[in-house]
Amino acid sequence: MNEIWSYPKIVAHRGGGILAPENTLSAIDCGHQYGHTMIEFDAKISEDQQVFLLHDDTLTRTTNTEGVAGALTWNELKHIDAGAWFSEQFVGERLPLLSEVAERCQRYGMFANIEIKPTAGLESLTGKHVACAAAAYWQNMPAPLLSSFSREALAAAQYEQPGLPRGYLMDEWQDDWQQVTQQLGCVSLHLNEQLLTDHRIQQIKAAGLRILAYTVNHPNRARQLLQQGVDMLCTDRIDLIGPNFAY
Ligand code: G3P
Ligand code: MG
Repeated sequence: MNEIWSYPKIVAHRGGGILAPENTLSAIDCGHQYGHTMIEFDAKISEDQQVFLLHDDTLTRTTNTEGVAGALTWNELKHIDAGAWFSEQFVGERLPLLSEVAERCQRYGMFANIEIKPTAGLESLTGKHVACAAAAYWQNMPAPLLSSFSREALAAAQYEQPGLPRGYLMDEWQDDWQQVTQQLGCVSLHLNEQLLTDHRIQQIKAAGLRILAYTVNHPNRARQLLQQGVDMLCTDRIDLIGPNFAY
C-alpha cells in the first residue's frame, strides 16, 4: 500500500452534501460544522486558466447565469451567484477559487479530494492547471487526493505533479481498470457504489489500490461497504453518515 495514504473514511461530497449549495465555501463551512474532516469537490479552469469550483460544464443548474463556465474569464465568473438556486439563505454566495478552498482546508485542518472536472475538450489543460495549483496551495497541508473520470486529465496531473496522489473514477465498470490505474500511477480507484461487489472489492484490494465508493447516502449500505473493506465513502448525507460513523 502507498504510504502517503492517511485519509479518513468518510468524505463530505461537494463540501456539504445536501445541506448547502454544492462546491461553495458555505458548503465547506457546513461540512466542517458537521464534524467532517475530509471534503470532495469539483475543480475546473476559466478561460484565463484560473482554477475554481463547479460541477457541470455549464452554469445553468447551480448559478443564476447560463452558458459554458470554461468559456468565461475569472473576472466574468467571480460575480456570479452560486447560492440563490439552492435557497434564499445562500443568496450572494460566489464560485470559489481553489486558493480560497485551500485556505478553508488549512483553517479547518481538513483533507481534500480534488476531483478534476474538465470542461469538454480541455482535459489535459485542466489536469495540468489543477495539479499545479493544488501543489502550490497545499504546501503546508497533507497532500490532496486528485481524482478524475478523465484519463487525459490524470495523465497531465501525473506529468506536472507526479508527487500528488491520484485516483481514477469509474461510473461504469471498465475491464482495463488495472492497466489504466497502473499507467496513471493511481493509489486509488473511485467507483460508483453500485458497481461494488465483494468479488470486485477483493480484486481491487489485491491489486494494491484503495477504494472510494460514491455516493453512499444510506447508513446500511455505508456499513456494508465499510465491512467489505472499502476504504472511503463519499456521501451527500453528511448528517446521517458522520466522521465517526460506526460499522
Ligand atoms: O468524486 C466522487 C463523485 O463526486 C463523482 O461524481 O458527478 O458527483 O462529481 P460527481
Ligand atoms: Mg465530484
